[in-house]
Amino acid sequence: MAKQQILFVDDEPMVLQGLQRLLRPFRTEWDMAFVESGQVALAKLTEHPFDVIVSDMRMPGMNGAELLKEVMRRYPAMVRIVLSGHADNDLVTQCVGVAHQYISKPCDPDQLKAMIRNACILSGRLVDEEVRKVIGAIDSLPSVPELYLELKAALKEEDIDSRNLGAIIQKDIGMTAKILKLVNSSFFGLRRVISDAQEAVAYLGIDTIKTLVLSNSVFEQSKPLRTKLISISDLWHHSMTVAAGAKAIAHAEGLGMASQEEAFVGGILHDVGVLILASNFPDTYDKAVELVITEQLMIPTAEQEFFGVTHAEVGAYLLGLWGLPAPILNIVGLHHRIHLQDESQVTPLIAVHAADVLCGIQQQHPLFETGRLDQAAIERAGLWDRQEAWAALVHDAAHG
Ligand SMILES: [Fe+2]
Ligand SMILES: [Fe+2]
Repeated sequence: MAKQQILFVDDEPMVLQGLQRLLRPFRTEWDMAFVESGQVALAKLTEHPFDVIVSDMRMPGMNGAELLKEVMRRYPAMVRIVLSGHADNDLVTQCVGVAHQYISKPCDPDQLKAMIRNACILSGRLVDEEVRKVIGAIDSLPSVPELYLELKAALKEEDIDSRNLGAIIQKDIGMTAKILKLVNSSFFGLRRVISDAQEAVAYLGIDTIKTLVLSNSVFEQSKPLRTKLISISDLWHHSMTVAAGAKAIAHAEGLGMASQEEAFVGGILHDVGVLILASNFPDTYDKAVELVITEQLMIPTAEQEFFGVTHAEVGAYLLGLWGLPAPILNIVGLHHRIHLQDESQVTPLIAVHAADVLCGIQQQHPLFETGRLDQAAIERAGLWDRQEAWAALVHDAAHG
């Protein structure tokens, strides 16, 4: 693999020197450049391509948020990481739309290394440069308008109930992805991974959520879906049913609470790639759906034809870039190919796959009918005789 090109920006010479010393052991894998301001960084980028930029936030002249915004506009495929010592609300909300990941000072070299490495592996996997650029530049995902309004109204109430906020957020694909991105960023110094929206809200606190929602456009429905053959409410109904169905299956098969929640969040997010592709390439996506209808193809096959990748990979890529927990990425990336996960027991991935397939069969929506249950994988887990029970659970989830 070619060496990764990484650019570090910080106005304090001491910090830059410290980084240089700390990261010296990685010279064999990375080519690193260290500059002291946003202006110099932008000039440097015109001379030489970089894969990753790691920038300080508070700098005189051009601050980190302004710099990363410009980098996003000019070089959307670059991975953008914020390295900052100040964990305050404004800063968080300022860079939430422009940075892929945050890391706090003093920086842990191994953590930074792992972060950069993961981001580069992910970006290397996506073939289509155009698709990669678009995903790199995504700063928000469309939300269901009613849920966004409901959330705003809930935040204006006198006694704000954080459980109610969590309940609204966890019903929305875009808002769930965004909040998990934020809470899992090393910015908050959390030692464990949070993979459910309710817990994320409780952890971040009402004030942070308020700032995020009311003063920042990241939660807003920035680009309504312009596709003709699929609407955000179709996708929402499908995702909610799969989430509730997957959780019910996980529960019925005796998985613990944490795994049940993982199945739920995985279900909400499993088709986030459809949202990404349909909101950014509406005309092409309509053509892919048309092909699904006329040629009776499965949607991943049609997507492959038009985009060179499927919604599963696209979704896992964006969430990976945002630093979401690995088990969620796994569910999103593999929900149509669970045989790639070599497991001989029930997992949240199997629950999501089963709920997805059964929901598709029951809904008979061309986009969501994605084939049959993976018999080999489900047999390996000893659960093949459970399909009727699962179908009933998914049916209840859709109607209950
Ligand atoms: Fe899917
Ligand atoms: Fe699906």
